[in-house]
Amino acid sequence: MLKVFPLSQSSAKPATIYLKDYKEPDFLIKTVDLTVELGEEETIVTSRLELTRNDENATKLSLNGEHLTLQSVKMDGHMLTPDEYNATDEWLHLPVATVTTDFSLEIVTRIKPQENTALEGLYKSNGNFCTQCEAEGFRWITYFLDRPDVMAIYTTTIIGDGELYPVMLSNGNLMQQETLPDGRQSVTWHDPHPKPSYLFALVAGNLAVVEDKFTTRSGRNVKLQIFVEKGNEDKCDHAMTSLKKSMKWDEEKYGREYDLDIFMIVAVSDFNMGAMENKGLNVFNSKYVLASPETATDADFDGIESVIAHEYFHNWTGNRITCRDWFQLTLKEGLTVFRDQQFSADMNSAAVQRIDDVQRLRAAQFPEDGGPLAHPIQPQSYVEINNFYTATVYEKGAEVIRMIHTLLGEEKFRKGMDLYFERHDGQAVTTEEFVSALEDGSGVDLTQFRRWYVTPGTPEIMVDERFDPKTGQYKLTLEQSNLKAGEIFKPLHIPLQMGLLDEKGQAVTFTDGPFKGQTEGVFDFNKKRQSFTFSGLSSQPKASLFRGFSAPVKLRQTMSDDALAFLFAKDQDLFNRWDAGQRLASNIILKNIEAVDEDDTAILPAAFLDAFAEILSDTELDRAFTASALTLPGEQDIAQRMPIVDVDAIHKVRENARQQIGLTFEENWRKLYNECANAPTPANQPESSSRKLKNTALRYLIATGREEYITLAATQFRKSTNMTDSVAALSGLKDITHPVRDEMFADYYEKWQKDALIVDKWFTLQAMSMRESTIADIKKLMEHPAFTLRNPNRLRSLIGAFTSGNPVYFHDKSGEGYRILSGVISAMNKTNPQIAARFVAPLGQWRRYDEDRQALMSAELEKILKLPDLSDHVYEMANKSLH
Ligand code: ARG
Ligand code: ZN
Repeated sequence: MLKVFPLSQSSAKPATIYLKDYKEPDFLIKTVDLTVELGEEETIVTSRLELTRNDENATKLSLNGEHLTLQSVKMDGHMLTPDEYNATDEWLHLPVATVTTDFSLEIVTRIKPQENTALEGLYKSNGNFCTQCEAEGFRWITYFLDRPDVMAIYTTTIIGDGELYPVMLSNGNLMQQETLPDGRQSVTWHDPHPKPSYLFALVAGNLAVVEDKFTTRSGRNVKLQIFVEKGNEDKCDHAMTSLKKSMKWDEEKYGREYDLDIFMIVAVSDFNMGAMENKGLNVFNSKYVLASPETATDADFDGIESVIAHEYFHNWTGNRITCRDWFQLTLKEGLTVFRDQQFSADMNSAAVQRIDDVQRLRAAQFPEDGGPLAHPIQPQSYVEINNFYTATVYEKGAEVIRMIHTLLGEEKFRKGMDLYFERHDGQAVTTEEFVSALEDGSGVDLTQFRRWYVTPGTPEIMVDERFDPKTGQYKLTLEQSNLKAGEIFKPLHIPLQMGLLDEKGQAVTFTDGPFKGQTEGVFDFNKKRQSFTFSGLSSQPKASLFRGFSAPVKLRQTMSDDALAFLFAKDQDLFNRWDAGQRLASNIILKNIEAVDEDDTAILPAAFLDAFAEILSDTELDRAFTASALTLPGEQDIAQRMPIVDVDAIHKVRENARQQIGLTFEENWRKLYNECANAPTPANQPESSSRKLKNTALRYLIATGREEYITLAATQFRKSTNMTDSVAALSGLKDITHPVRDEMFADYYEKWQKDALIVDKWFTLQAMSMRESTIADIKKLMEHPAFTLRNPNRLRSLIGAFTSGNPVYFHDKSGEGYRILSGVISAMNKTNPQIAARFVAPLGQWRRYDEDRQALMSAELEKILKLPDLSDHVYEMANKSLH
């Protein structure tokens, strides 16, 4: 039965919290001694705190606490009577006028983790206890000053049934393990590093462990442990390897060593997000730990490598130096995403990594930044902080750090980072303190650059080019604007990394200016309108701007399709080569959509096809790069360039273009498919790059519509020994109506039904199918015995994939797609408000669609806002989305 975890019952509009109201805590907590007695009916938490006064005028101590049953409070050893304190749904207020500077509290509370469906605080997943405390989950465990600028030393004793929960873990080092007279097991952990409560973790269960070790460069021996549900021990190799690589990389790249004798990772199957960097005890969504070639795709392997690295890197950027308050979230998240992206670029092909990262930014962050939920990477206010774990704070935050890196250069950036670590180790700080440290350490002025932290919206750049053949001068004029910044627009400091190409495609050497003698430079573009002049040119050059995506901006360039085709074929910068191809393809698709005659055949200009052919036959390129370059921009990418999105037209034209490309290059695709499948992968490229290119070829072959390629895909599916090839074959056939397709989906489910992560893929592939029956299929899948709203991964695999990966059917004219989504949101509003709120965003894009769809989408938002017991989480998202 689905039990509903009680929410606090208040009908008042939730309060908004402002950065400008930040005030230091009145009291600090020096030590925390927790005893957690795990039970099947209830769990009893005894918390002994040593506190100290921080504001001598404070008369009241207010501790956060939610969903707690208070049993007793002792102050300095004296039991308080209920009339001496005041416990509300969210607070415990204690009188402190008479206490001395230092005092102690002992608070006993009772909780029911087994009924906690919100997956915040202490909860149960598949019979095991685990915690998620960021951002404000610790207050679901005990009354506390649950804010990141209160840092304490924790000792944690876990007591429970040793048969049910032989493994009992918490942060730090294991101090003691014993069997109590009553037969229960008691385990004590001590973490010597002061930490904020959001980094607390506790795990108890019947788990298997995989062990390894790592010696830090100063000789510390660290035990590495990955805990998984029994039976998954053979799927930890990649996670373990990734962890060791991350530990080594952080030493080499940033001089950062690990600081405890043990590092533990626990994989759980019910988890709201990707993973959590709790000190010494990271808790992971099993999706980012478990993998073997048979069960996980190459993309899954990459995801694991980057999330393991991300959480490990948090040990320095997040844990040793943490955030003063939650408005500073990007301090740790933007920086840590930047670090994990750097790491992945070092471990894999840097260009392909950059392309993937930018694709993710454009797909998730650009729409957010252009819609009603736009916010700066440092928000100024929030209702519910969990709603601000966004692509903006994370991914755009990482771009902001990357721009600092680009402006400073590797060496000075490292100096700045060294100073940041030296100055702030052990502190809870602000983004301002971070930027100051980088400035002081590097000697580079970042005054104007700071505006990136407080400006919402994606800057748009207009480009004007003038070439004077008489003087040989080329003048490039850029103008920046930002729709979201409105009245407050002030020009941003934008690093413009660029180069010029001559008519043969050779790099032009600058003959003057700051980069004289070089073929590439990083220019400071920091005025609203600014010109850059280059001389000594014999013909009009082609400009390759914002190389490597040197700033998170939208380029509104009036460059001809021929010029784009030229860059697509010739640019020295691989990222820009790919990007030119994407821009060109979007232009072509958009032109075909606009074409008045209703002919279904898209016109693909010769210049485009020639550039395509050139890349197709270039065997020097990394196969993974070739695959990305030969893939058309996604439907949502193209949609971002339409003022009013026409999902059906985009799909139709793009599919037609794919078919034509399939047919035009049919022989090349066949050859490529066979080469990638049979010939060895070129040295210094990973095997995965061959699979990626092979499966790109397969998709184009299927797009031709020829029966033989359905057979090819089916054969690949049957013979495949790895998940990448199996999923690619299924994905290639997911949109057709054909007995082979149904057979494959049935076989796949039959074979893998016991593996939850693979069943998730089965749901996702069907959620993204393009068939007339899709909406009916999705409704049927929601009734499938394997579907549940309770598991976030499963929910995302079907509903998330549908709403964000199937624009045509999500935006079906009937409004059925919107109703499915709002039905799920209302079902989740009480059980897991955090997840429910995350599903609101697609409806928030309503202004981008035609009038009928606008009406349908906003009607669902209104319905959501009228829900009884609307959670603060969903309220904030729906309210902002509608208004
Ligand atoms: N700090 C985690 C990370 O590495 C994310 C945790 C967010 N959890 C949440 N409930 N908001 O990115
Ligand atoms: Zn993080």
